[in-house]
Amino acid sequence: MTDPIVNSFWDRTTGSWQYVFHDPETMKGAIVDPVLDYDPKAGATSHENARLILEHVRANGIEVEWVLDTHPHADHFSAAAWLADELGAKQGIGEEVLKVQRLWKEIYNLEAFEPTDVFWDRMFADGDSFKIGNLEVKVLFSPGHTLASVTYVVGDAAFVHDTFMMPDSGTSRADFPGGSSKDLYETLQKILALPDETRLFVGHDYAPGDRGAECCATVAEHKASNKHLKDKPSEVAYREVRDARDATLPLPDLMLEALQVNIRGGRLPEAESDGRSYLKIPVNYFEPR
Ligand SMILES: [Fe+2]
Repeated sequence: MTDPIVNSFWDRTTGSWQYVFHDPETMKGAIVDPVLDYDPKAGATSHENARLILEHVRANGIEVEWVLDTHPHADHFSAAAWLADELGAKQGIGEEVLKVQRLWKEIYNLEAFEPTDVFWDRMFADGDSFKIGNLEVKVLFSPGHTLASVTYVVGDAAFVHDTFMMPDSGTSRADFPGGSSKDLYETLQKILALPDETRLFVGHDYAPGDRGAECCATVAEHKASNKHLKDKPSEVAYREVRDARDATLPLPDLMLEALQVNIRGGRLPEAESDGRSYLKIPVNYFEPR
C-alpha cells in the first residue's frame, strides 16, 4: 500500500486546516477542505487561500484529480468548486449531504431549492473506495459534528476533519443542527480503531497557549494523550463533557453565511435579476448565546 505525501495549509482567520495529498510515484493527488476567503463586513469572497494551494500543486507538478470536502463546513466557505474548475478536477463529498441540504433548506426557507447531487461529481457512501494514482482512498462515514461528515483514509493518513482536535484540545463540537455527541463518540471510536501509526490530520487548530498551529497526531498519540479520550471514557461520560462544553460555545462567526454556500458545494446562491448573489439570514431561528 502506498502512503501519501501530505502538505498542510493553515487559514489563520478561521483556524482551518486545508490539505493537499499526492502519490509520490504518479504525482496524482487531491485537495481536502479548501477555504474560500470571505470578508463578512464587505460581503466579499476572495481566493488567497485557494491560490496558495494552486501555487503549491503547480510548482510541484501535482496533478489534482479530486477536490474533496469532508462535510459542509459551518465556519468557512468551501473553495472546492472554484479549485475544481481551475484544475479540471472532480468534486466529491459524502452522500448524506442530501440530508444536510434538506435541513438547511427549512432553516433558510429556500422554497425553490431541492436536495440535489448536481454540485458534485460523486457523493460517497460509507465504505466506498477509489484510486488516485497508486493511492487507495477509503471513505469512512463519520457523523457527529454534522450528520454528513466523512473521513478519507489514504494509506497511513486519515483526513478526520472535525472529529479529533489536536490531543491538547480534545475533540470537535457536536452542537450544530444535525450534530450529535452520541454519533461523534461512535465516530471517534471507529477512527481510534485504525492502526496506531495512522496519521490523523485534523480540520481545525486554534494554536492554543504559546504553541504554533499543528495539524497531525497519530492514533497512538491520541490514545495516550487526547484530553477527551485518554481516560477511555464511557459514551455517557464523554457526552457529559462534550455537551457541557458545547453549551458554552458561541455559534461560529460565519455559520449562517457559510451553510447556504456549502450545501451548494461552495457555490453562491443563484444570481438574482441584477446578476448578483444574495445571502439570507434567518432572524430569530437560533437563540442568542
Ligand atoms: Fe466543521
